[in-house]
Amino acid sequence: MIEFDHVSKYFQGEAAVKDLSLTIREGEFTVLIGTSGSGKSTTLKMINRLVEHDEGRIRFAGEEIRNFDAKALRRRMGYAIQSIGLFPHWNVAQNIATVPQLLKWPKARIEARIDELLDLLGLEAAQFRERYPHQLSGGQQQRVGVARALAADPEVLLMDEPFGALDPVTRAALQQEIVRIHNLLGRTIVLVTHDIEEALRLADRIVLMDGGQIIQQGTPLELLTNPANDFARDFFGRSELGVRLLSLRQVVNSLRVDEHIEGEPIKADLSLREALSLFVDRQCQQLPVVDEKGVPCGVLHFSDLVRGEHATNR
Ligand SMILES: Nc1ncnc2c1ncn2[C@@H]1O[C@H](COP(=O)(O)OP(=O)(O)O)[C@@H](O)[C@H]1O
Ligand SMILES: [Mg+2]
Repeated sequence: MIEFDHVSKYFQGEAAVKDLSLTIREGEFTVLIGTSGSGKSTTLKMINRLVEHDEGRIRFAGEEIRNFDAKALRRRMGYAIQSIGLFPHWNVAQNIATVPQLLKWPKARIEARIDELLDLLGLEAAQFRERYPHQLSGGQQQRVGVARALAADPEVLLMDEPFGALDPVTRAALQQEIVRIHNLLGRTIVLVTHDIEEALRLADRIVLMDGGQIIQQGTPLELLTNPANDFARDFFGRSELGVRLLSLRQVVNSLRVDEHIEGEPIKADLSLREALSLFVDRQCQQLPVVDEKGVPCGVLHFSDLVRGEHATNR
């Protein structure tokens, strides 16, 4: 869907992005992660030509992006940023309608789309449509920002630290929304973050950047279990590695299916990390597990969880 082929970008003679090659497949959730100044935002902005690259080629759907009209290209790609960038003198409905209006959608279709998106992002349409940005909380503004990026049903969604300014609870809720939207619509998403937990939670593929270059790319599990070098290992943190791995595995993977015990059950699709907290809360060694229909399907042993951690920490 998006292909970088030996791409470089210079600012005042300094490379912000150096000889970067990267393939982003259709329907994939890619997260660009790295320290501040590593070239993440520049990489993202080159995709919709907010920044023009100096060397190499970038292709979108097989065609070089230089061949597109920049405005037309941008309308096919939703873009959401941390500072939100809502127009302060426009209400929520008008903000969301920006791109559909540019595309000259019929009025009725735009109105229906606004309601649909507010619903998708958990904002009551009747209550929020007419509000102005200053009448919204930070989290609500972020939601409207994401709704606006999604408005014209873009083929690609580009997001630059879209949840950066939020408190942890609102951030987790919005992350869940994005995962749901991704699963529902199967859109290609590229998200920039410096937050490791966020990357692990959201990504199909993680691209770790440093100094304008890609250090490593792969699935979250690959980056955690098989870091390419010391930088990658340090970035994802040695000490918490076991716990982070637990967040990628589900109860269902460590289950003893032939056992049964009494007690308040946990769900099989919980992450092992969530299960770990439940063990700690309940001060127990074993937990009964039920499937999505609530039918008992086995027992999770604390010792298995710890053993799994040792096995993967080798
Ligand atoms: N418009 C610009 N003018 C000059 N330098 C820039 C500009 N945008 C980014 N840079 C520089 O390019 C490097 C990469 O920046 P950026 O892509 O924003 O990093 P990140 O998003 O990973 O924090 C930094 O050194 C930054 O100072
Ligand atoms: Mg940035």
